[in-house]
Amino acid sequence: MSLANRQLRLHSRPKGLLAPGDLQLSESPVAELTDGQALARVKFLSIDPTMRVWMAADTYLPAVAIGEVMRALGFAEIAESRHPDYKKGDRVTGLTGLQEYVILDESAKRSFQKIPRIPFVSDTVFLGVLGVNGLTAFFGMEIAQPKKGETLVVSAAAGATGSIAGQIGKIHGCRVVGIAGSDEKCVWITKDLGFDAAINYKLSGWKDKLAAATPDGIDVDFENVGGEIMHAVLDRMNLHGRVVVCGLISGYTREDPGLESFATVVVKRLRVQGFIVLDYASRFMEAATQLGQWKMFGKLKDRETIVEGLEKAPDAINMLFTGGNIGKLIVKV
Ligand SMILES: NC(=O)c1ccc[n+]([C@@H]2O[C@H](COP(=O)([O-])OP(=O)(O)OC[C@H]3O[C@@H](n4cnc5c(N)ncnc54)[C@H](OP(=O)(O)O)[C@@H]3O)[C@@H](O)[C@H]2O)c1
Repeated sequence: MSLANRQLRLHSRPKGLLAPGDLQLSESPVAELTDGQALARVKFLSIDPTMRVWMAADTYLPAVAIGEVMRALGFAEIAESRHPDYKKGDRVTGLTGLQEYVILDESAKRSFQKIPRIPFVSDTVFLGVLGVNGLTAFFGMEIAQPKKGETLVVSAAAGATGSIAGQIGKIHGCRVVGIAGSDEKCVWITKDLGFDAAINYKLSGWKDKLAAATPDGIDVDFENVGGEIMHAVLDRMNLHGRVVVCGLISGYTREDPGLESFATVVVKRLRVQGFIVLDYASRFMEAATQLGQWKMFGKLKDRETIVEGLEKAPDAINMLFTGGNIGKLIVKV
């Protein structure tokens, strides 16, 4: 009996947040395996802001084509195999797409990573702190070259990447200030994660609070947001500061009118560097080992927001842009 595969396909390119129908649910039979293929059942999907970018235009990866299964990272378990490298029960992470089943073929070595079973470590960790977000925070903070006693500001600080980047800043002995969109998020990053201060940018007077929380100015900006928040941070940068441009989420669902504050880069001789975590693929194992050790010894804490059901993935994507998640956002398939 052939299995049915529910899939979310890109039907139209969203304008702003995803509208109902931009991603459409369809069902197709899973093809019979041929030699060299393995069938994996997707258990968890990583919901990432870059998915909105992939829906819009060619960037560091080609845009998802209309009609194609929406590109997404996921965690999957091998259900059946005629592939020499995979056996039933093996677990992988990689570009599964927003669907229930994915067929791995000879190209899988490049796009999927086998995941070991480690006692007391949940599957979803491999999509968050030991996955793309941990790796991104790790390499972004390496670019930042934080020094003991410096002030680091992280935007989207209660998100999957920002929460880890800030904790890495603490490991390096920085004063760490997070910017986030609710009091609950601010309490989490200060009380549980050990940030020195947190600013709720949705409350009036937040720029004054940012100034009060960074009395010695800002040496490192771990930039996840862009727009007004980035401008406020740039205005407080110290001479020879570093701006690590990890992402600019405020511009993913609308046009960003200006980047005038970027003149600061010249006046203050700032080092600004953008990066894509994929640039560091050859060092993922080294980073994951370090992140794993920090997690094991309690130096890194993580949190997840889990949404149930493949059909809820479009709503989950929108949650990233309305701030509905704390920590890593995952869809349980
Ligand atoms: N360079 C790379 O390779 C790479 C890899 C992964 C992620 N990233 C980037 O890292 C950033 C965070 O990604 P993530 O996966 O960790 O997501 P996340 O931080 O877990 O979720 C996104 C968060 O961004 C905040 N946000 C959304 N729109 C905003 C706005 N207009 N102004 C201020 N804050 C806003 C929301 O929190 P609030 O409630 O605080 O608003 C939301 O929870 C994104 O810019 C993403 O593109 C880059």
